[in-house]
Order: sequence, then C-alpha cells, then structure tokens
Amino acid sequence: MDKECSMYKEHVESGKRKVTLSLTVNGRHVVRDVDPNMTLLHFLRDNLKLIGTKEACGEGECGACTIIMNGKAVTSCIILAVEAEGAQITTVEGLAKDGKLSILQEEFISQDALQCGFCTPGFLMSTRALLDNNPNPTDEEIIEALSGNLCRCTGYIPILKAVKRTIERERKESGF
Ligand code: FES
Ligand code: FES
Repeated sequence: MDKECSMYKEHVESGKRKVTLSLTVNGRHVVRDVDPNMTLLHFLRDNLKLIGTKEACGEGECGACTIIMNGKAVTSCIILAVEAEGAQITTVEGLAKDGKLSILQEEFISQDALQCGFCTPGFLMSTRALLDNNPNPTDEEIIEALSGNLCRCTGYIPILKAVKRTIERERKESGF
C-alpha cells in the first residue's frame, strides 16, 4: 500500500473528518484540511475556486477534468484529493502568464478549435502534458495523447490544427 493510500485508510478508519493536504498548484504552495473522500476535481473547483477544470462524466471517461499532476495528464474526477499530497499540479488557470494567454490557448482560438468550450480546458491540459514531454510529436502521437478527451461540438480537425500550429510556434520561439 502506498503512502497516500495508507494515509487515506488511516483517516477513514479513525473516523477523522479532515485530512491536512499540502501540495503545489500553479506554482503556489497550498495547505488545506480536506474531506478524505473529496475528489481532486472538487478540491480544485470548490476549495481553491479553480473552476476552469470542468466536470462532465465524473467517471474518468470524457477528459473534461484533465489537469497535469507531476508532469502527467490525469483525470482529476477519479483521483482523491489526498492522493495529490506533495504533488505539483497545473490546471488550465496556470497556462496564461502575466495575464497573457499561452501560445496553445491562442491557437485554440485562432483555429476555431472550440465552440461551447466545455471540453477545452481538458484538451489544453492533455496537449500541454504531451508537448512538455515530447515537443515534436507525430500526428499519431497527438491523436493518441488526446484520445481520452471527448468533444461533442467542435470536431477534432480544428483541435489537431491548433495543436500543430502550437508546435510550430513553440519550436520557432525556442529557436529550434
Ligand atoms: S469529468 Fe473527469 S473524465 Fe469526465
Ligand atoms: S467545444 Fe463543446 S464539447 Fe468541445
């Protein structure tokens, strides 16, 4: 049993209603007392008021709640907040810097890669995790990385175009 699981079990068995959670979210160190049953998604939205991360299926199937945790894209609706103890988390709110949208966000807009926008934070975070780990992915690798994110209204072609434009611009910006 890993550390977080044993901590969770201990608190459930002891009947304690709150667990102290310490983690870093969008570069900010956060310490909060949380319900041991609270999901990471609800911790981010309800406790930290980071409502950019969306809830749709609530079952790990649609990708709307995707965030980056310790460098990997994860669906926050099926992770307990206590499992994020000590983690480095990035949510969609962490993409813009100094009030300026990131290249990735700009390209989703310029390529019309969103309509209702409900799925967009999840797509942005899955893409960011991909490009942080592999700045020059093939189309197949992009499609694979985004395969857990569902969009009901835009269609996937504009999303793929936005990701490819981001790759080009980030490559130019980094001088490669
Ligand atoms: S809301 Fe988390 S995967 Fe759908
Ligand atoms: S833009 Fe509406 S679900 Fe994707």
